[in-house]
Amino acid sequence: MTRTSIDSQDHRTRRVVAVVGAHGKIGQLLTSELARRGHLVLGVHRKPEQADAVRGAGATSVLHDLEAGTAIDLAEALRVAADGDIDALVFTAGAGPGSGPARKATVDLGGSVQSIEAARRAGVTRFVQVSFIGADREAAPTGDESWDAYHRAKRDADALLRDTELDWTIVRPGSLTDDDATGRVRVGQDLGRGSTSRGNVALVIAEALEQPATVRRAFDVLDGETSVAEALAGLAG
Ligand SMILES: NC(=O)c1ccc[n+]([C@@H]2O[C@H](COP(=O)([O-])OP(=O)(O)OC[C@H]3O[C@@H](n4cnc5c(N)ncnc54)[C@H](OP(=O)(O)O)[C@@H]3O)[C@@H](O)[C@H]2O)c1
Repeated sequence: MTRTSIDSQDHRTRRVVAVVGAHGKIGQLLTSELARRGHLVLGVHRKPEQADAVRGAGATSVLHDLEAGTAIDLAEALRVAADGDIDALVFTAGAGPGSGPARKATVDLGGSVQSIEAARRAGVTRFVQVSFIGADREAAPTGDESWDAYHRAKRDADALLRDTELDWTIVRPGSLTDDDATGRVRVGQDLGRGSTSRGNVALVIAEALEQPATVRRAFDVLDGETSVAEALAGLAG
């Protein structure tokens, strides 16, 4: 991960941020970036053997399986780990490639709903969700049952989040890559096809937590030419 966001806005505020999906690829990159910015990260992951990696990225390990546990369990686990107020929750969990329609429903949709409810119970008002470009469009059948279920799950999860009273942000990347973060992106609506490095997604989420202009906004993000801080500030217009 590059350090290009180091000069962005206010890094003096130490936040407590819960990352749901902390062992995922974006989750680990995000944890490292938030820790680098001086925030306390509560890294929610589902398997005990993932704890070392979650801690290694800079988070406090919070063991919770979204499919086996409840919002009450998650809120309680976060409260215990935070031992104080929690400023934000980032939902970046997903059933992932290779999973069938049932797990798109239980993780991509159900995990988001559970995280929203847990945020409410734990008094968290800021909520950032990772989605994908096109999730807000009509989920016309493609013949790929798993993809269609994923699209429906993300579309419904985003719609439910938009309907809440939370200070939400929905970040919609394109095809994810493991390229190095450039710290330079393009954000906006209907950006079309393109790719986004997971590192840039992590930088966008970390910066979104600093920028009020991103509250109650959903936007596409692709790798681009504008610094993350400047691109997000531009959403205010
Ligand atoms: N693939 C794409 O091109 C693409 C494009 C745009 C957006 N997205 C979205 O980007 C986000 C994350 O991407 P990524 O690359 O970081 O994915 P990832 O590496 O697969 O991370 C997802 C994480 O969710 C966790 N998870 C799955 N089931 C869970 C459960 N029951 N309880 C708790 N955690 C659970 C996984 O844990 P395990 O490791 O234990 O399974 C994994 O650590 C997802 O929201 C995805 O929908 C993907």
